[in-house]
Amino acid sequence: MFYGDNMTSHSNPRGRTDLTGKVFVVTGGNSGIGLGMAEGIAAVGGSVAVWGRRADRNAEAVDILKDHGVAARGYECDVSDEQQVIESMNRTVADFGRLDGCFANAGRSGHGVPFLDLTLDQWREVMATNLDGVFVTVREAARHLVRQGSGGSLVLVSSTSAIHGAAGNEAYGTSKTALNGLMRALAVGLARHSIRVNSLIPGWTITEMAGPAYANDKFRDVTVRRTPVRRWADAAEFREVGAFLADPALTYHTGQEVTVDGGYTIF
Ligand SMILES: NC(=O)c1ccc[n+]([C@@H]2O[C@H](COP(=O)([O-])OP(=O)(O)OC[C@H]3O[C@@H](n4cnc5c(N)ncnc54)[C@H](OP(=O)(O)O)[C@@H]3O)[C@@H](O)[C@H]2O)c1
Repeated sequence: MFYGDNMTSHSNPRGRTDLTGKVFVVTGGNSGIGLGMAEGIAAVGGSVAVWGRRADRNAEAVDILKDHGVAARGYECDVSDEQQVIESMNRTVADFGRLDGCFANAGRSGHGVPFLDLTLDQWREVMATNLDGVFVTVREAARHLVRQGSGGSLVLVSSTSAIHGAAGNEAYGTSKTALNGLMRALAVGLARHSIRVNSLIPGWTITEMAGPAYANDKFRDVTVRRTPVRRWADAAEFREVGAFLADPALTYHTGQEVTVDGGYTIF
């Protein structure tokens, strides 16, 4: 037994990612990094359920995804509300007939206030979306994947804030650090079901959420100088990352923090 006998076979003979017939949830898939990853999945044949609170933005994203010739649907869902997550996951599986993975990407920034002024309510607001929301989302996805019995891919979107400390970023940084702990525990627990669990650590990326930071000349210059590729990422650069992490052919890839940051965290 030397080559290929010890694995679950999902490999694609053409050697290229092919997600035809597969279905993925992307929370926060109507914007930025989430939309980038959703497009990458759609471009190689995967169907996408776009979750977000804004129905109009969901509809715009669905139109973009459908241009790739795949099925796509929007679901108005606030991931900080457990009941909405449960209902959206049930509706997604009912509408598409199956589930092959979930990108828990929806997130919010912190309040940017000094730590000494940070209130418990503000702390909890950040955790409600970035940590509780991801927990409930991946739990519901995992329940469906385990029941379905054909494996799958769960991706928790973390941040370089899980690696670098920054004053005024305590709640956000804590939420994103916690996701990596959750990812590791799930990778161990769900491996027996052929469910791979990884986290994504994006670097500075030009999106709605990071817009104010990008517009700040001084901050942008400092971060660009600290990034080996000498620029912020475009959200479209996460297309291939989405397709890669969704790919069922990556049968041995689990429990990892996948960093896509232009070299920021190693510099
Ligand atoms: N941009 C960066 O530099 C950077 C770096 C590291 C990590 N990240 C992480 O990457 C992820 C995506 O952020 P982005 O930069 O692409 O920002 P973005 O373009 O502003 O997208 C954020 C997405 O999250 C959704 N969202 C926010 N709160 C939600 C909630 N409670 N329920 C459901 N959906 C919600 C938004 O849709 P609705 O408003 O319609 O709900 C939107 O689709 C976040 O987790 C962020 O922390 C970003």
